[in-house]
Amino acid sequence: MFQSVSMKTTYEDVLEHIESGIMLFDEEGVLVFVNKQMYAFLELARHSLLGCTMTHLLANIQLSRLKRKQVLRAYREMVRKNKPTYEFIDEYGRYWRATLRSGEQMKGSYLFILKEISDYKLIEQTAYQNDSLAMLGKLSASIAHEIRNPLTAIRGFIQLLHPHLHQLGKEEYAKIILAEIDRANDIIHEFLTSSKPSAPQVSMIPVSALLKEVVLLTESEALMKGCQINLHPLQGDMIISGDAKQMKQVVLNIIRNAMEAITERSDDYIGKIEVGARREGAEVRIFISDNGKGMDLCTLDRLFNPFFTTKENGTGLGLSVSDRIIKNHGGCISVSSRVNEGTRFVISLPLIQ
Ligand SMILES: Nc1ncnc2c1ncn2[C@@H]1O[C@H](COP(=O)(O)OP(=O)(O)O)[C@@H](O)[C@H]1O
Ligand SMILES: [Mg+2]
Repeated sequence: MFQSVSMKTTYEDVLEHIESGIMLFDEEGVLVFVNKQMYAFLELARHSLLGCTMTHLLANIQLSRLKRKQVLRAYREMVRKNKPTYEFIDEYGRYWRATLRSGEQMKGSYLFILKEISDYKLIEQTAYQNDSLAMLGKLSASIAHEIRNPLTAIRGFIQLLHPHLHQLGKEEYAKIILAEIDRANDIIHEFLTSSKPSAPQVSMIPVSALLKEVVLLTESEALMKGCQINLHPLQGDMIISGDAKQMKQVVLNIIRNAMEAITERSDDYIGKIEVGARREGAEVRIFISDNGKGMDLCTLDRLFNPFFTTKENGTGLGLSVSDRIIKNHGGCISVSSRVNEGTRFVISLPLIQ
């Protein structure tokens, strides 16, 4: 007798201290055991839980509205729909997996186990992104190979035809064709250098010059789309080191997205894009914010994934390529957004001292 009591307390001690949350309902549906992790998750005191049924638990006035929703959903999915596990994100952005054990083995009792899986999710997402990026690299290399060769052949033959076109007084045609072929080659080259995870061609880039150039490039397009771009004056000389072409492409991608978000917002208002940069210790933070349609959590979660797009004619490559470029330069991109209010992208990069 003595031994079994002490064994019971030992087991309870062990259960109390494991990483997962545990909640056991007996065959009558009454909560007979709950450990620390579980009542901490529910943000309720243990004494207010023991002896409760699920209905009592859901009616507990101290249970927050969000927690009630999470418990109710987990209960519906696992008990009503008979799914053994249920994954969800809580109000603090943590990922959880709930597991239900019941049936004969449990002699009519229900055991709920709750485990935080935020770390697994992060690893899973990184693995997924790396995998898709590797595929993207291979795909673009083979496309470039396929397109470049015929372009080179066409270029050669046009040069051969040049004197004949000259005789016909159509020399202008040859010039246009050659210029267009060169442009196509440039596009392929740019796409390849930015999508393949290659080492960047390093030079010193003044941030102010970079932003000025990109704003100048996009201003007329923005005007046509009815939005204003405002470049904030920068404090002092901020210099980063990196591949200037790739950097320009990143800022350009983000400004293009901002313009598109503005044109996609349905109500009548003045679209505004703010561009600027400030020093933050040894880093520069380049910000690009818009008052466009914004993003919900689901989009925010996936916007850097290759091929993820919400646009009819989108490629879903702009941000995944930009993210890769910035990471290659030792920096990172962060985003905050609100639906129907706007979005702010911040690119952090190390400064040259
Ligand atoms: N400034 C922004 N405002 C709202 N949504 C944005 C913004 N920037 C990016 N997005 C979202 O991220 C998605 C991915 O962007 P991107 O990788 O550039 O691909 P694409 O522009 O081809 O769709 C877009 O389809 C859009 O849903
Ligand atoms: Mg884009």
